Amino acid sequence: MSKPHCEEVRPHMVALSATLVQAGAIRSTEWAQAFANVYRHVLVRTWFQQETNDRGIAVWRMHSGAITPEDLATVYSDQTLVTALDPDTAKRVDDTAWTGIPTSSSTLPSLMAGMLEDLAVEDYHRVLEIGTGTGYNSALLSARLGDDLVHSVDIDPALVNTAQERLKFIGYTPHLAVGDGTLGYPTGGTFDRIIATCSVPAIPAAWIEQSKPGTVIVSDIALGIEGGIARLEVDETGHAAGRFTATSGRFMAARTDARTYPARQRPPLLPETTTRPTAVTAADIREHYPFRLLLAFHLPEAELVYHRDAAGTLSLQIQGPDGSWGRTPLAGDDTGLVTCGGDPALWGQVENAWRWWNTAGRPAHDRFAYTRETDGSAYVRYIPDGTRWNLPARG
Ligand SMILES: C[S@@+](CC[C@H](N)C(=O)[O-])C[C@H]1O[C@@H](n2cnc3c(N)ncnc32)[C@H](O)[C@@H]1O
Repeated sequence: MSKPHCEEVRPHMVALSATLVQAGAIRSTEWAQAFANVYRHVLVRTWFQQETNDRGIAVWRMHSGAITPEDLATVYSDQTLVTALDPDTAKRVDDTAWTGIPTSSSTLPSLMAGMLEDLAVEDYHRVLEIGTGTGYNSALLSARLGDDLVHSVDIDPALVNTAQERLKFIGYTPHLAVGDGTLGYPTGGTFDRIIATCSVPAIPAAWIEQSKPGTVIVSDIALGIEGGIARLEVDETGHAAGRFTATSGRFMAARTDARTYPARQRPPLLPETTTRPTAVTAADIREHYPFRLLLAFHLPEAELVYHRDAAGTLSLQIQGPDGSWGRTPLAGDDTGLVTCGGDPALWGQVENAWRWWNTAGRPAHDRFAYTRETDGSAYVRYIPDGTRWNLPARG
């Protein structure tokens, strides 16, 4: 492993920190200093960038080896860098390119900074991170709090080993463990702050058990259609509540298998029933993140997928757990139409949500709050008037 090249790298680190301050993602001198002092290029030595190859296929192109000035500029820019692909789906297309599903990445620095600020750590806080990945976030936490207070768990042992080695090389020794982070930190204990850098469909019971009164949890809560970063505070009864944060971004889902994402079981789609004009188009759904999040509250068991028909028309499709679906094209003459299969009421609900959101004045995502009750049930509330959406219980 090559030495950090302090002289050469320092200006990049300082520039990244300054960019994040300027963007409003870093709001304190403590985090500005941490970002200006942690070597991301040692922790992220190989990454995959998406490109379309000469055969028109979207591939992940690997960048690795000697650190060039160009590579340094990339590593110290505000970019997510994918660092691992699911070995079960990754297919090699040429010497340095693969197709496949990412299973680890070094998160977008501005998203990381926003979440770390939302975490509001104090000097004495014991912190748990779910999703060690490259170790960059653990290094930032260690730089801010000291190694002893920082704990991080990842389901992939290879990632934890590599992160541990590289962290040590740049002078950090946080507590790292291998395990399913939805079960908490494997050796137990309680934490003042919990930050998840993989998404969960609901806040796991173990995180509440490893909390204290006043513990803050910052996590991406992923419902089928969309998800958002929530900042919750746990009280003395184990009740957790708080709002979706203004920091927006999404994370790869927590998985139960170290190497791969097991294929999702979906019901077969029901036969086509009707085509009619729609009050909400694919563009409306694509362009408005807060609306997609609201739609996820309305239809928490539904999913949003893209569908290409035999004629090559690409549509946005909402599909329910019973196999009902509604799809509307992204382009062309029929963007004002929806075609439904199974129960047409599914698309009626999409239109109801659109009307609700417009009548409420198109509220942003941080106008909504999430609550996890002590029995594990959860609901979302629209803060101004208390309108409530119950979410399904998750195991
Ligand atoms: C976006 S990456 C984390 C980035 C990391 N914090 C960093 O600074 O590089 C998400 C990570 O979550 C991990 N992960 C997925 N499911 C998990 C689980 N159930 N428990 C713990 N980690 C998990 C993945 O292996 C992956 O490394």
